[in-house]
Amino acid sequence: MQTSPISPVQRIGVPRETFPGEKRVATVPDVVEKLIKLGFAVAVESGAGDGADFSDDSYRAAGAEVVSDAAALWAMSDIVLKVRPPSSDEVALMREGGMLIGFIWPAQNPELMQQLTAKNATVLAIDCLPRTLSRAQKMDALTSTAGVSGYRAVIEAANAFGRYFSGQITAAGKVPPAKVFIAGAGVAGLAAIGTAANLGAIVRANDTRAEVADQVKSLGGEFVKVDYEEEGSGGGGYAKVMSEGFQAAQRKMYAEQAKEADIIITTALIPGKPAPKLITAEMVQSMKPGSVIVDMAAEQGGNCELTVPGAAVVRHGVTIIGYTDLPSRLARQSSTLYATNLLHLVEELCKAKDGVAVVNMEDDAIRGLTVIKDGAITWPAPPLKQAPAPAPKPAVAPMESKKGGHGHGSSAPLPAKTLAIIFAVAALAFWFIGAYAPAAFLGHFTVFVLACFIGYMVVWNVTPALHTPLMSVTNAISSIIAIGALVQIMPPEAGMNGRPDGLILWLAFAALVLTAINMFGGFAVTRRMLAMFRK
Ligand code: NAI
Repeated sequence: MQTSPISPVQRIGVPRETFPGEKRVATVPDVVEKLIKLGFAVAVESGAGDGADFSDDSYRAAGAEVVSDAAALWAMSDIVLKVRPPSSDEVALMREGGMLIGFIWPAQNPELMQQLTAKNATVLAIDCLPRTLSRAQKMDALTSTAGVSGYRAVIEAANAFGRYFSGQITAAGKVPPAKVFIAGAGVAGLAAIGTAANLGAIVRANDTRAEVADQVKSLGGEFVKVDYEEEGSGGGGYAKVMSEGFQAAQRKMYAEQAKEADIIITTALIPGKPAPKLITAEMVQSMKPGSVIVDMAAEQGGNCELTVPGAAVVRHGVTIIGYTDLPSRLARQSSTLYATNLLHLVEELCKAKDGVAVVNMEDDAIRGLTVIKDGAITWPAPPLKQAPAPAPKPAVAPMESKKGGHGHGSSAPLPAKTLAIIFAVAALAFWFIGAYAPAAFLGHFTVFVLACFIGYMVVWNVTPALHTPLMSVTNAISSIIAIGALVQIMPPEAGMNGRPDGLILWLAFAALVLTAINMFGGFAVTRRMLAMFRK
């Protein structure tokens, strides 16, 4: 196993963000306390939390050391937590062989990668997290940031729009509800749909990935389809560049929507590619005066032809907002979410809770995030082992991967020799039981072994992402066990052979208690899952 302890009890440092206008901070006082519980020392640069309304005193109260000088902070920190990628001046301050965790965007920042390599650094880029791993969701800062941005985009639109979102009938007349069109229903788009629908607007949305239609509906929006059959998924939950034919049909539909919509919010992105141009200058011209466009893809070139990144401009009577700092405009909220994502990552790095971060390259999530390890570039990470095969034949794929024998996880097949030994021992044990145990016991025991085998096969073949819903349905299995135990405990007049002896009675009672825990736990999990979908 490749693991690399760096030094005993490390100090985590959090500098003030230096990017112009950036108000977020990479950790918050509540999280500082938890980092200290993991065994780390924490230092925060003075004023780092000012933009997000976290004072130096609140960090001090949480147990952090507040350092007034950025250079001193960088020099004393074994691990630096940041939001934005560091500037070259910041990299110069970094400790030789130190660790850096934050947004890096290695594809867009090759020079930064070289500078960090020269520092012999270990760099974990939170933007490179393999998001489809269900275990990685708690660390998914892209999702938490996009959720905040989607919400804020609607608030910015409402601010620039001269009317209510909800329809109103008053003595002074009737106000129709605002019509909002959302282009791209990923994480940010879905957050925008929910927010705009909650404000009372009529919301429509479109995405190239047809599978999001149900999610749009569940948030109170209407999915508008492009009249052209083409699958828009490019793998890993992301979109791909669409064909010319699709783009023409999409432009036609968007032109119709632009004429009707009061507000358009665009979020469409394709990883590693410039943002698709979806809203043309003519479409802007066709919108009603006073309408608003919020282009959330502004930083990647914009979805609207007339967007000016970082600014709000008025063109043809339409306000086009191209702010690139939407998460920073809700700095306290986004800092708290981001800090929690990083805490979960640090927990993964420090499972021993001894204040030492260990980068385990055998762990899929950590491997994906690690873009530089001890000065060597390790980006991009190889595709995930359990990623769906790009070429289909899904039924055959698992068999093939087993034959390859390259799995390192718990599902790796056992060597034939070990299997033969296990079977021989099991057969011997079975013969022994058959020879000496009472006849009735053998029957029960056979049923028990078969039940264990079937249970194992059923549960272990379920995708890890479905384990939580599976837990909620294990109630059914538990209730069978409960019935069995009740039958054992039942009094003789109820039709059984006789009350069982003490040991069996106690065993049955223990089975009842354990299944009750499982059943009520299942109900609790189900309730929590359902609560996620309720307001
Ligand atoms: P993103 O920010 O890269 O893209 C935003 C949206 O724009 C996507 O929904 C994409 O399909 C859409 N889009 C791209 N080109 C378009 C075009 N020409 N016209 C219309 N729409 C277009 O994606 P984001 O929001 O970061 O994630 C996308 C999806 O990935 C999520 O909705 C989710 O389904 C999936 N995902 C899954 C995760 C998981 O399995 N744990 C975690 C994170 C994301």
